[in-house]
Amino acid sequence: MNKTKTVKDYIRTIVDFPHEGIMFRDVTTLFADPRGFRMAVDQMLHPYAGQRIDKVVGLEARGFILGGAIAHQLGTGFVPIRKKGKLPGATISQEYKLEYGEAVVELHKDAIQAGEKILVVDDLLATGGTAGAGIELIEKLGGEIISCAFIIDLPELGGRKHLEELGMDVHVLCEFDGL
Ligand code: PRP
Ligand code: MG
Repeated sequence: MNKTKTVKDYIRTIVDFPHEGIMFRDVTTLFADPRGFRMAVDQMLHPYAGQRIDKVVGLEARGFILGGAIAHQLGTGFVPIRKKGKLPGATISQEYKLEYGEAVVELHKDAIQAGEKILVVDDLLATGGTAGAGIELIEKLGGEIISCAFIIDLPELGGRKHLEELGMDVHVLCEFDGL
């Protein structure tokens, strides 16, 4: 008998991308499947039913795909955290270490009002560097982060622990072992 496919079953693994030794967890195969994409979005927002959320903040780039769908479903606004130089208005910036390299993310200063309840969304949690930088930016503007939601956690890279040490509630749909 066919087992019902889970979100994890739709995620493709590409070996040695972008570098040798990296197992790239590719969510494009999940996003491309109508059942898979809906399942991922529904499961990501499920824990927040009945909670006040004012804005969903998505982390560039794959967090935009999920964040837009989740904000639409929750009936909230959507706010992007973008890589350096992309946002046209006045921004605040935060440097962070990436799984491979370093980068800067930015947030429009007027995108979040103090006291607003925020849900942070991205596809994957690895070291937690990207989400950690996003959290810093949101909290600088006085946003109150309700939770951080991801499709995938790579537990060996410690991102979940890092975010929990920052006091975050973290929700993930699945885990993969190995890098
Ligand atoms: C990937 C992934 C997360 C981040 C996770 O994004 O989509 O955003 O890395 O890694 P971390 O927990 O170690 O910070 P990437 O920066 O590769 O860019 P993209 O989403 O724009 O493709
Ligand atoms: Mg990303």
